[in-house]
Parts: sequence; structure tokens; C-alpha cells
Amino acid sequence: MEFDLNINRFFRNPVTKFKGQDIARSDPELWKIVDHVGEASRVAQNLHRPVTVAHSFANSNQTLYIMTDSSANKGNGAVLGMLKIGPKKLFLLDRKGQQNELDPLCVLDFYIHESCQRRGLGKVLFAHFLEDENIHVEKIAIDRPSEKFLGFLRKHYGLTDFIPQVNNFVIYEGFFDNCDRQA
Ligand code: ACO
Repeated sequence: MEFDLNINRFFRNPVTKFKGQDIARSDPELWKIVDHVGEASRVAQNLHRPVTVAHSFANSNQTLYIMTDSSANKGNGAVLGMLKIGPKKLFLLDRKGQQNELDPLCVLDFYIHESCQRRGLGKVLFAHFLEDENIHVEKIAIDRPSEKFLGFLRKHYGLTDFIPQVNNFVIYEGFFDNCDRQA
């Protein structure tokens, strides 16, 4: 995803991490980039509204990882993808059908640009997030995963058995292991 400006000053690493307050304090050009990537993800997922919008992200307790290639677009840089995560208060059913009020870390938005999907970049970005957060993949909740994302989790992490929920979140076997519960 290319822009008509050099984006490299915003992205110091191949994967750059932003908190809401980083965006709130930043240049309007970075807001435009975030909105643009959020819109691309919306289109890719066929949603009515984007999940990632700069002004709401700026006021959130969420984290955004943006993956870039600084040498692309004649050295002006290009965005390859993004991953947005954050805690959510959720009521989740365990295997026994008991409801648990929890505050898990959730994957909220995940997108790799169409020109480079299925080349392993999603895995690199996702693995970066897991390591950065020091969390095991089965401990996260996923908001409305697409078929592609479900396939991704099956292929890279062997996740197949999910615990049925009544909301749009998907959690996998192992989510409740060694977890403090509030019935
Ligand atoms: N059809 C089916 N499965 C796919 C597809 C596809 N078009 N693209 C990726 N996958 C899955 C498959 O398991 C694939 O393995 P395979 O090629 O051997 O079949 C695996 O992902 C590939 O892994 P990576 O190359 O590491 O993943 P990629 O870089 O493509 O990133 C992602 C995965 C983010 C899901 C990407 O395909 C994408 O942006 N898709 C469109 C947007 C989307 O669906 N995002 C998730 C929304 S849900 C949420 O955000 C909570």
C-alpha cells in the first residue's frame, strides 16, 4: 500500500508499534495512513464500517502494529499490513457452558495487503505480536475472524477446536486452562 509521501519517518522498524496516545500526539499524515489501512481492511473483510479508524484508536487502550517495507515505492516506503489488539470485557462460555466474565486480550483487526497475502507476512506480524505481548495464541480471543484468518490459525498454530460462544468472539481449546474465573 503506497502513499504519495515518504512514510518512513513514521515507521522506524519493519513492524512499528503504536498505542492510542502515540497516534493522538502524531502528525495528521499518520492519521491518514491509519485510516487508509483501516479502510483497506474493511474492504478486504466486506464490512460496512472499518474496525480501525485513527480518531477512535487515538482515544483507546488498544495497540496497533503496522508492518512496512521502507525500500518500496522508490524508497518512500509502503505499508504491508496491520494488526490491532486490545483488551475487552467479555462474557465467555467454557466447555461446560458456564459463563465467565473476563478481560482477555483480543485480536480486533488483521490485514495484509492483497499484493502480498499468502507469503508468510501475516505469520511474521502475528508472531511479532505474540512475542511482544508475551502471550500464548490460545489465550487470545478473536473478534469475528474471517475464513482466511481461521485458516491462518489452523495452518500456523494448529488451532481447530473452538469453544462455542454466543457472541462474535472465537476462543480455542486451552483458553481457560490455568485461568482465574469469575462465575
Ligand atoms: N484463502 C484461504 N486462506 C487464506 C487466504 C485465502 N485467500 N489467505 C491466507 N489464508 C490462510 C491460509 O491458511 C494460508 O495458508 P495456505 O496459503 O497454505 O493455504 C495462510 O493464511 C497464509 O499465511 P500467511 O501468508 O502468513 O498469511 P497472510 O500474509 O495472507 O495474512 C491474513 C493472513 C491477515 C488473514 C490475510 O490473508 C488477509 O489480510 N486477509 C484479508 C483480511 C482478513 O480476512 N483479515 C482477518 C479478519 S478477522 C479479524 O481481523 C479479527
